[in-house]
Amino acid sequence: MKIYPPPPPGTQPENACDAYRSTLLRAPRLAPVPLPHTPTELAGPRFDRLSISGESNLTNRGSAEPQGQRIVVAGKVIDEDGRPVRGALVEIWQANAAGRYLHSRDHHPAPLDPNFAGAGRALTDDDGVYRFLTIRPGAYPWRNHPNAWRPAHIHFSLFGAAWASRLVTQMYFPGDPLIPLDPILQSIPDEEAKRRLMSSFELDLTEPVWALGYRFNIVLRGREATPFEEPPCR
Ligand SMILES: [Fe+2]
Repeated sequence: MKIYPPPPPGTQPENACDAYRSTLLRAPRLAPVPLPHTPTELAGPRFDRLSISGESNLTNRGSAEPQGQRIVVAGKVIDEDGRPVRGALVEIWQANAAGRYLHSRDHHPAPLDPNFAGAGRALTDDDGVYRFLTIRPGAYPWRNHPNAWRPAHIHFSLFGAAWASRLVTQMYFPGDPLIPLDPILQSIPDEEAKRRLMSSFELDLTEPVWALGYRFNIVLRGREATPFEEPPCR
């Protein structure tokens, strides 16, 4: 397995960040010990054989349309040299338009939407492109500090050609006033790296009389790698 150099300092989230309180409890105190991967971690699975067509539409799972602003989220998954990554499994999960997850531990007193489960998945095509149709998520409160609110965001998980290659990150929306106040995004020291988690509104992705369009490209490795989370994030 090829060993890639680490991304430049400051371009990935800090493991322990004072303003992001729960990281202080879970961040490792010692340097990680590298373990060799097993053959099955490196050899499988083949996601391009999955039959998941239709799971990229998060708006047609119920008996009616979900509440909220319909949006297209699409982008390209590329490697450190700009080459498209084909057959990558891209999974997303998110809050509904009111800022509520369909999850037993989400106690935010905002309404659930019976027509929106908030999860979907897609495979990248030969050009490395994925596409989802979903609902713009709402902001939600969390208990990191008094009056803390997460900006609207969509969680992403990417699997390449092996189980060992999973990467997790979050996509944000341009112009959100909560972004400068968010300790999770601000745990990335490098300003340019933070901008890589910002989607861009693109009229070309918009479907007339149907849905707005946002682009979110993902770079897996290298100097311009997308910031990824090591521990699970809210
Ligand atoms: Fe979240």
